[in-house]
Amino acid sequence: MLAQTPPMGWNSWNTFGRDINAEVVKGTVDKFIELGLDKAGYQYVVIDDCWSKRERDPATHRIVPDPVKFPKGMKDVSDYVHAKGLKFGMYSCAGVRTCADYPGSFDHEFLDAKTFADYGVDFLKYDFCFRPATANGPLLYRRMGQALRTCGREILFSACNWGSDDVWSWVRSAGVHMYRSTGDIFDNYKSFTDIMWSQTPESTVLDWHNGTEKLAKMVRAGGGSAANAPGCWNDTDMLTVGMFGKGNVGTSGCSASEYRMQFSLWCMMSAPLMLGCDLRSIDAESLALIKNPGLLAIDQDPEGRPMFLATRHWGRRCVFAKLLSGGDIALGFYNFDDNDASIPFYFQDIGLPDAAGVDLKLTNVLTGEDLGVRREYMNPVVPTHDCLVLRATPVHRP
Ligand code: GLA
Repeated sequence: MLAQTPPMGWNSWNTFGRDINAEVVKGTVDKFIELGLDKAGYQYVVIDDCWSKRERDPATHRIVPDPVKFPKGMKDVSDYVHAKGLKFGMYSCAGVRTCADYPGSFDHEFLDAKTFADYGVDFLKYDFCFRPATANGPLLYRRMGQALRTCGREILFSACNWGSDDVWSWVRSAGVHMYRSTGDIFDNYKSFTDIMWSQTPESTVLDWHNGTEKLAKMVRAGGGSAANAPGCWNDTDMLTVGMFGKGNVGTSGCSASEYRMQFSLWCMMSAPLMLGCDLRSIDAESLALIKNPGLLAIDQDPEGRPMFLATRHWGRRCVFAKLLSGGDIALGFYNFDDNDASIPFYFQDIGLPDAAGVDLKLTNVLTGEDLGVRREYMNPVVPTHDCLVLRATPVHRP
C-alpha cells in the first residue's frame, strides 16, 4: 500500500527547471545518501518536466528521452536510483503538451504508463496544462489512474491540477496518492504563507489574508489539509527550504527562520515533503531542519489529522495545533508580524480548560529541549517571521 503517510523525496523542478539531466540526478542521488536523507525517511527522486524530446517517436508513438540530457536513457537513471535503495519518479501531463511544451500523455495514457513501467518508475507526477476543453479533470485523472493500476508496476500517482475542478471531491476515488491544490510555489515568504492559508479553514475569517474565493470555497467544501487521510494527501507543492533565492523558482528567497516556518507548517499540515533545493550544496542549517526527527514525526503521524488555528493574537501571531496519535499534541507558535513579540496561548483553546486538571509537558521540537510542565497557559516570545514548535504531552495534575 502506497502513501500510508505523506510521501517524502526530492523533485528537480524548483532548482533545475528545464536544465535537468542524468548527471544532476545521479549527483543528487549520491548526495541524498551521503546526507542520510534516506535514513530520515526521504525516498523518492523525481525528474519533473523537460526530460524528453519535443516530439514522440513517429513509429512507436512513445515519448523519447532527450538524448543530450539522458544519453543512456531513463532505465539507466532508474537503475542508478534503485541501486542506492531509493525510488524513482518521473513526470507527464494530462494535456496534449506538458506545461513546458513537451509531449503530454493525452490519449496516450496506457502507452505512457507502460513506458514508465518499463523504465522502472515508482512515482508519476501528472500535470494539467494544454488540456482540451471537453476533457475534464476527473476523466483525465481516472484514465491515467487506471493506466497506472494496470501497467504491471506499483506506481505512486501524484496529481498536479492546482485545485481545479474541485479536485478534493473526486481525487481519492481516482486512485491518486497525493494532489496539488494550489498554484506553484515561489521561493519567497508571501508565496508559502499564502499557500498555507489557502489550506486552512480559518483563512476565510482572517481579514489580513487575501485568500481567493476559489480557495475559500475549497476549504468550506472540506478540501485542503482537512481532506488528508492515509492513501491520499493534499500536496502544498515542493519545498523551497535551502534555496535562498537560487534556482528555477527563486525570487527573493527566504531567511533561515522563514524556512523554519515553511518546513514546520508543511509538517503541521501533513503535507508531502518533496525537497526542491540543490542537495549537492545544501547548507548545514537547512539540512538539520529537513532531517529534524521531531518535525518529521509530526508530518508522518499515522492519523494525519488536520492542524487548526487555536489562537490568533493581535492579528498575525498564531498558534496552530495538531492532535497526534498516542495522545500528544503538536503546537506551532507562528509570528507573522514584523516585530518580535510574545504569543499568549491558553490551553483552553485546544479544549483543556484549567478545570480539566490536565497540564502540558512540553518539549521544543526543533532543539529537543525539555521545557517542563506548564499549567493553563504560556506566553513565549517568538522572533519576527519565526516559529516555536512544541510537542505537548497532557499529564494529569497530581
Ligand atoms: C506546472 C507545475 C509545476 C511544474 C511545472 C513544469 O507549473 O505546477 O510544479 O511541474 O508545471 O512545467
